[in-house]
Amino acid sequence: METNPPKRRDNKKSLRVKVISLGNAEVGKSCIIKRYCEKRFVPKYLATIGIDYGVTKVQVRDREIKVNIFDMAGHPFFYEVRNEFYKDSQGVLLVYDVGLRESFDALDSWLGEMKQEMGSQANMDSIVFVVCANKVDLTKRRVVDEGEGRLWAESRGFHYFETSAQSGEGINEMFQAFFSSITDMCENGGKRPVSEVSVGFTKEQADTIRRIRNSKDSWDMLGVKPGATREEVNKAYRKLAVLLHPDKCVAPGSEDAFKAVVLILCVST
Ligand code: GTP
Ligand code: MG
Repeated sequence: METNPPKRRDNKKSLRVKVISLGNAEVGKSCIIKRYCEKRFVPKYLATIGIDYGVTKVQVRDREIKVNIFDMAGHPFFYEVRNEFYKDSQGVLLVYDVGLRESFDALDSWLGEMKQEMGSQANMDSIVFVVCANKVDLTKRRVVDEGEGRLWAESRGFHYFETSAQSGEGINEMFQAFFSSITDMCENGGKRPVSEVSVGFTKEQADTIRRIRNSKDSWDMLGVKPGATREEVNKAYRKLAVLLHPDKCVAPGSEDAFKAVVLILCVST
């Protein structure tokens, strides 16, 4: 008697991953997830209480990916609830509102909170980060431009997308890139592929350009204390010249930042 061999489940093809959303309260984390999973937008603000959890299945190439989404509350009040959920994440959505500079400035502290809560597990190279510059539909109130957001993200090896949960702009593209990168990472033995990490400029260069763009005055631009001596000013200038010289720095905005520093020096001499 002939029997059919039992069908083997091809474990290589299915994958289970955990992703989390981070960012200040009201930036649109829940709406971005809702727009993708439920194809709808809720204009009324319903604050997430602690954590919202959901599961979705997506197809990446020949693999089925089961995605567990932990949507975090951004309000500081929920810190105690949130901190349990950082561990074992393969992907992080870092969201800010392009109309609220403080929500963009807060991204560093969100990364800080995550690192702190992950403790010894904190290997950021094994996590795919996507930065969502959200609410781009509200063009008139925009205060953080694309260059600044992209620079912050890409200098850290993170993806950057302009999104609107309201109109749906960028949402599908962002999630496709997110899940595809997580799959690549899992297939790459849990390491983010090198091409995504290397963007040709350093975090120090990107952060310096950002500081110069947002500087209040000339002292701030040079990164010295008000009333610094000529020697201190020259030293700061030399450091910036090495860091930002257009021949050496390919980061977006480096040329303008370099010109601004040169101008300051010309005016002050
Ligand atoms: P917490 O859960 O408190 O951390 O907030 P959240 O980041 O999850 O924000 P949520 O998704 O609840 O959205 C906050 C408010 O912003 C709601 O009133 C949304 O309707 C609105 N909103 C979210 N995304 C967009 C967007 O892309 N455009 C516009 N115009 N409004 C948005
Ligand atoms: Mg929410």
